[in-house]
Amino acid sequence: MLFSNFSIDFFIFGVMPYIALTVLVVGSIARYERDPFTWKSSSSQLLRRKQLVWGSILFHVGIIIVFGGHLIGLFTPIWVLDTLGIPYAMKQWLAVILGGVAGIAALIGATMLIHRRVTDPRIWRHTSVADIGILVMIWVQLFVGLGTIFLTLQHMDGAEMVRFMTWSQSVVTLELNAWAEVIDVHWMYKFHIFLGLLITMLFPFTRLVHMVSGFAAPFRYLLRPGYQLVRSRRQKPLPKRGTSKVTPAE
Ligand code: HEM
Repeated sequence: MLFSNFSIDFFIFGVMPYIALTVLVVGSIARYERDPFTWKSSSSQLLRRKQLVWGSILFHVGIIIVFGGHLIGLFTPIWVLDTLGIPYAMKQWLAVILGGVAGIAALIGATMLIHRRVTDPRIWRHTSVADIGILVMIWVQLFVGLGTIFLTLQHMDGAEMVRFMTWSQSVVTLELNAWAEVIDVHWMYKFHIFLGLLITMLFPFTRLVHMVSGFAAPFRYLLRPGYQLVRSRRQKPLPKRGTSKVTPAE
């Protein structure tokens, strides 16, 4: 066999996270610098609104909770759980219930968005391969993620979850041998993580980039340079061009 299970595991858990993070950061910066005007959601709202509203709300609310849950769930240091006295089993239940409900909402929303895109000829004409490709990948990822819940329910002591947390955190702390922590998990978890890392890599090249703007916009607004000059109605008319300097508003 050309690739043993060992080398596939090493690639998915030991190498791919670093490739994914590098492509995510470098790709996003390059796209923002080179094509800032393509950094958008490319909304098709004007073409057909009704089905978009429900599909979009369910998808966005669901996916934001799933993403937030993954970040908090995987990257909270284990000593924090121990210090706060949170049992691992309790955290596991929380992940299953909250992630399960949010995942189902996102899956229903994604199904509606895909249906709308492929059945309306006008929207389909404005759909790129990247648009539909990433939506289908997210749909599959949600489906597989929800599928892992059935495996998780067979070991609700939280021990498996702690192994995933140890591995995720070791990627950030550069403990390069930690990939061996998760090699004997069920293939469905492995496939889920592989697809998750692939989506992370494709992120900068799809419309998903608008997510960053959603999080960054409020901060950019607060930190915007200078302030606005608003003229009152009672203000003296502006002097003719080239005659004198403009006096600032009172
Ligand atoms: C590299 C990225 C990802 C990693 C490492 C990852 C890891 C995991 C793990 C370990 C579980 C099982 C949790 C448990 O049972 O304790 C899980 C569940 C799940 N994942 Fe992911 N995932 C990733 C990306 C994604 C993405 C992009 C989506 C959605 C598009 C997603 C959707 C779900 C859902 C719906 C579940 C089941 C509910 C839950 O436990 O939250 N995952 N994921």
